[in-house]
Amino acid sequence: MKKPNLEVALLAAWLCAATLAADDGVFDQYRDLMGDENPAVFVIDEGEEFWLTAQGPNAVTLESCDLGLGPGVTAGAYVRFPRHFADTNAVMDLESRLVYCMTTIQGRDLESVTAKPYSLRGDFGTEIEALVTWLAAESEGATIAPEQAHATERAMYALGKDIFFYRAGPHDFSCATCHEQSDKRIRLQALPDLTSHTGAAGSWGSWPAYRISQGLVRTMGWRLRDCFRQQRWPELQMGSEASIALQTYMAVNAAGGTMTAPGLKR
Ligand code: HEC
Repeated sequence: MKKPNLEVALLAAWLCAATLAADDGVFDQYRDLMGDENPAVFVIDEGEEFWLTAQGPNAVTLESCDLGLGPGVTAGAYVRFPRHFADTNAVMDLESRLVYCMTTIQGRDLESVTAKPYSLRGDFGTEIEALVTWLAAESEGATIAPEQAHATERAMYALGKDIFFYRAGPHDFSCATCHEQSDKRIRLQALPDLTSHTGAAGSWGSWPAYRISQGLVRTMGWRLRDCFRQQRWPELQMGSEASIALQTYMAVNAAGGTMTAPGLKR
């Protein structure tokens, strides 16, 4: 992967130092200071480079990958996910669709492309994270519009809703325990009401996001996996039915909202 340049390194160092003292006020100050300067811009460029780089045994780029709007069409593709694909006869989220293209078009090994979808702290980001960030930016300003035309898409929404309200684990938490009201907070973090259109749209539309506290861009897939961890549930696998179902539930609740990602989060 490309080495970050000096500018990124300095910005990262500054953010890291500033984060030590982060509270809500300080976080708002960063945002004001940074304006449009979301460090995710570097990750967007990197994602496009990955898309255009020939890789795998077939030594081809991802340019013929069909994200639902036809091979190679990237503008406006993100806001339609998760969606049904005829070639796999399944509802896929963007991450699992990318994995599908890497294995079928580039001929890459499934195990190696899924081995480490999300970076650990201190990393510089993964290929999946960069591609998702670029593709989200390719939909910036577009209206969130997942389809519910296919029976499998409606079934995914219903499953996502069931999981959202399903209580389990040592604390008997569901997603709804923390995300069903708009006035809840944990420590200083405001928790969005993901059952409401406003809450879901603000949230779905702002991921992937640059996490200041981690110095990394994170995808919605990672966000959900981290909430599974907070809920003390087993680790959520990228591209699993549970992950796609929850994303479908949130995206459909968010429909009609605007894509603003990549976002900037504490
Ligand atoms: C124990 C409380 C808790 C539970 C249970 C929980 N979350 Fe979260 N969730 C959080 C916290 C805290 C944050 C904010 C994290 C941060 O800002 O660092 C968050 C953030 C999120 C966000 C991003 C919000 C935004 O706008 O940035 C989404 C989406 C989300 N959770 C979805 C879920 C889903 C889906 C579930 C169920 C699988 C779930 N969460 C379960 C505490 C929880």
